[in-house]
Amino acid sequence: MIRVLFVCLGNICRSPTAEGVFRQQLRESGLTERVEVDFCGVAGWHQGKAPDPRAQAAAAERGVDISGLRARQLNVGDFERFDYVLAMDHDNLAAIHGMCPEGSQVQKTLFLTYAGQSDMSVPDPYYGGDEGFEEVLDLIEAASRGLIGELAKRTGHRL
Ligand code: 4NP
Repeated sequence: MIRVLFVCLGNICRSPTAEGVFRQQLRESGLTERVEVDFCGVAGWHQGKAPDPRAQAAAAERGVDISGLRARQLNVGDFERFDYVLAMDHDNLAAIHGMCPEGSQVQKTLFLTYAGQSDMSVPDPYYGGDEGFEEVLDLIEAASRGLIGELAKRTGHRL
């Protein structure tokens, strides 16, 4: 089993969107049995809360239901449980590096690396308009496809 964790700041916009989109792509690719996925936030402000209604609505328009997801905060145990800890932006990645125990083998990187963007963030949509949530979905869909490709290769799964 390969375990993937998506990390953003508040845990109610980008990372639940990533979890929903990626889980859907796992189902479509036949990889559900091989890959486990979870999401969390660097901050604990929204712990236990459902995703932002705007994120829920934008995902639903693309056929992805994230209404049942609940926020939780990143913790040090995550670095033992997961193989990939994927950050939405540079601040998230810095927080991940700050918490990660020394010597950990976890793959820590920006999620958009898997969309072929080596240094790009998924912009925080929280204080912006609805179009921000569409951009988040576009970027996350592209990176999810790239990550599915890598995991399929790694597990010898034919897409
Ligand atoms: P997220 O967006 O990190 O994509 O979940 C945010 C959600 C809430 C806040 C900031 C970013 N906040 O300041 O409450």
